[in-house]
Amino acid sequence: MRSHFMACAMKSSLREMSLIDQLAEAPAVTARVLSLAVEGRIPADRGHSGRVAIYALAIANEMRSIDRDPNLRYTIALASLLHDIGKGALPDAALGDPDRLGEQERSEYMKHPVIGAEIVRACRELASTIPGILYHHERFDGTGFPIGLEGERIPLVARIVAAADAVDRLMWTGNNAKVLDSNSAIERIQQEAGKRYDPEVVDALVSAWKKGMFENIYLATPVDLSEEFVEINKRAEKFAYLLEHLPSMPIVLMKALKEMEEGEKSLTDIANIISNDQTLAAKVLRIVNSAYYGLSSRISTLPVALTILGTQAIKSHVLNLSYQDFMKKVAGSLPCFESLWDHALNAAAWSRELARSNFEVDEEEAFTAGLIHDIGRVAALKQSPEDYCKLVEMASGDARAYCALEEELVGLDHTQLGSWIAYTWRLPASLVSAIRWHHEPQKSVVAGEEVRGIVSTVHVADVLATSWTCDGKLLAKAFREAVSPWVVKELVERKFRIPDAIDLEQAAERVCERVQEIKKLL
Ligand SMILES: [Fe+2]
Ligand SMILES: [Fe+2]
Ligand SMILES: [Fe+2]
Repeated sequence: MRSHFMACAMKSSLREMSLIDQLAEAPAVTARVLSLAVEGRIPADRGHSGRVAIYALAIANEMRSIDRDPNLRYTIALASLLHDIGKGALPDAALGDPDRLGEQERSEYMKHPVIGAEIVRACRELASTIPGILYHHERFDGTGFPIGLEGERIPLVARIVAAADAVDRLMWTGNNAKVLDSNSAIERIQQEAGKRYDPEVVDALVSAWKKGMFENIYLATPVDLSEEFVEINKRAEKFAYLLEHLPSMPIVLMKALKEMEEGEKSLTDIANIISNDQTLAAKVLRIVNSAYYGLSSRISTLPVALTILGTQAIKSHVLNLSYQDFMKKVAGSLPCFESLWDHALNAAAWSRELARSNFEVDEEEAFTAGLIHDIGRVAALKQSPEDYCKLVEMASGDARAYCALEEELVGLDHTQLGSWIAYTWRLPASLVSAIRWHHEPQKSVVAGEEVRGIVSTVHVADVLATSWTCDGKLLAKAFREAVSPWVVKELVERKFRIPDAIDLEQAAERVCERVQEIKKLL
């Protein structure tokens, strides 16, 4: 089983091993069952270790030093599940809120890391988790227990489990029964960076939180144990299937997106990235030499094309081509492909249009976010092609109702599914956020100031693209009815103009023209 796990890990070099893949392994099942047995004794802890495992992996995902080391990630998942296993052997009196225990009970409570490590020592397959269990109550400044280790002498796994443990204690089973919202919980943890927690781990925790990774927790509701268990398994099955069968995003697109995040590269670098995919490079040259650009002489190399047309224009074409290719692979033969692809192009063109004047965000970034905002729908199509196609075709403008139907059909709505995939593909936070919150932009506040503009842009673009019209009055009506009041308030506060029917009609003409141009080129 373990060697199978290793083989799978090697195979998916571009995609991460998901938590779900890891939890399907035998030692992980043992760990899960053990932790459920212990949590069964302590009502306030139900679901705790499962959530800690998810937080810990989200933190690990943000740390360069761990990156894609599947062994380490596996150990982190297991150690998180088992970190409090020693509580199973404590007397009832030592199981209450640690901050309210008497002296005697507290000293009993403080033995649980050592007892836990002893329990696990008996099981060879779980031996790698011992440092994570034994040291999860150590503090970075050396004031923790059981040893009082300091700084990097505390094993990394334990430093991660400690921070993940804190997120859950503060948000779900908070000390003194006071449960905090994620903003306040994260703030509290940040204040303890360098004291209680490893500052590097705290940084990773903050960036995972900004991407919404602590919000999308399948074990999030402290429900009845059996119900929770059934639910996780049901959802896990579907995720594992999807990860296995979804084509990876083309490497070229990944690199182009990465470069967008990191800033400008030299023309030769970009030409090299594109040239890695010969078919793509040929298609780009065909576009460059088409009537659209009307160049007098023929361009035969990418560096020349880039010099003449500029990197931004080329990048847009690369994105269009790559994403179309990805969608075709997943859904090309399905009847709803055309309407999904048209919607993607329309939303991309609208995003670019709005980016310029309404939200002060980068036009290229807006275009990409608009293009891929419904990637979760493509993934859902992979999951249930026929049924999902019917859903796409009968979709009305009511996004909330649509998401509810998706949840019923696929297990998750397309914003959850899409952002989860974008996150595992390591796309920039702005794109993950735009995908996650394009139907509920008000919720993007958890991800911070930086993503508000792009989320709002894609939200409005999606509403306008769904209207399928160039009629300014109809667009203005759609804007009034379907654009989130939160976005309207944002526009007012930031002194942007609320577009009226005339603005929208003029913009729609440019958008429709742009979409036609792109279609002709592809
Ligand atoms: Fe603990
Ligand atoms: Fe959507
Ligand atoms: Fe959409």
